[in-house]
Amino acid sequence: MSDNDQSLETLLAQGGHFIDPETGAIVAPIHPATTYARDGRYELPGFAYGRNANPTGAQVEAVLARLEGAEEALVFASGMAGIVTFFETVRSGERVVAPRVMYHGAADWLRRLAERRGVEVAFFDAGEAGSLEAAVEAGETAVVWIEPSVNPTWDVIDVRAAAAAAHRAGAVLGVDATVTPAVTLRALDLGADVVFHSGTKYLAGHSDVMAGVLATRVVDERWKEVRLARTHTGGVLGAFESWLLLRGMRTLHVRYERQAANALAIARHFEHHPGVEAVLYPGLESHPGRAVARRQMTGGFGAMLSLLVPGGAEGAKRVATRTRLFVPATSLGGVESLIEHRASVEGPHSAVPANLLRVSVGIERADELIADLEQALG
Ligand SMILES: Cc1ncc(COP(=O)(O)O)c(C=O)c1O
Repeated sequence: MSDNDQSLETLLAQGGHFIDPETGAIVAPIHPATTYARDGRYELPGFAYGRNANPTGAQVEAVLARLEGAEEALVFASGMAGIVTFFETVRSGERVVAPRVMYHGAADWLRRLAERRGVEVAFFDAGEAGSLEAAVEAGETAVVWIEPSVNPTWDVIDVRAAAAAAHRAGAVLGVDATVTPAVTLRALDLGADVVFHSGTKYLAGHSDVMAGVLATRVVDERWKEVRLARTHTGGVLGAFESWLLLRGMRTLHVRYERQAANALAIARHFEHHPGVEAVLYPGLESHPGRAVARRQMTGGFGAMLSLLVPGGAEGAKRVATRTRLFVPATSLGGVESLIEHRASVEGPHSAVPANLLRVSVGIERADELIADLEQALG
């Protein structure tokens, strides 16, 4: 079986089937060196300096490139380091189109680029048909940036349709697939040019490492700028964190399957619950984006959901302080379940409903998670 015929599950479980040629070790070593010696002909053997790249990072990048079907992947010191580096390639006067509700850190950075650098930023409403296309066509768009399932309302964006709209306008499509990793959605196969992940979340999976990932369908001029910008900004992922990321990824498929199954069970249980005004989850039959989600998410509807609860912001915070298993903390994608009052962390620009609780579902037992939410809502 060639490398390319291998399933994603096998690729992940074996961490790229690494075997050290010198020792036979089946786990890639951590190379902490910041600099690399030249040989007798004064040539570099492959690496030069730690801010450019390191061998442990290269190891995880090779697995990520295969996972995404990418020509190349790059790892960053955090998700935001990857996002900031990607948008370094956008010049003043160029236009970026992105959803109004999405990961707030990326939206805040785009607003800053608009204010300080003269980048034109247009936000569209992910829940409104035709809104993305209208925003793209309203100007000369260079980049369309989307989340297939937008954080934290989980409106679904059709990646193929977004790619078609971007490409008609001569723009590239970047997809933040943090909550829809390749075990359920392969963004490059659906037409994206670049796929991004906060590796801090599902890829690493244990809430113990910060990491970012960008992967490209083709190495083009923009991508070469991304590479250069990573070196200049110093946003490269360190060797130890690269090792942790690769280690976490080895169980991604198993974790994600269990987390998505738990999330579906929770969403179904609370859909008509008297203590909940609405459950936002793309896997529910009542969700308007379910058909698209089903088409593009082949490995489950994901493990993120939101609850709208009575009593506004105070009512939501009260529920989040009463849970005993769900930890009231931000972030997502770890093996443990988290709950948070989203508007509290997003700040003044937040477009998120005041009574929204964002839930990241872990790998615990679904019945115990449901009982915990029941008592907190009661
Ligand atoms: C969808 C999404 N994109 C990007 C990021 C930023 O990643 P990081 O926190 O690793 O910098 C996050 C973090 O919460 C996220 O949820």
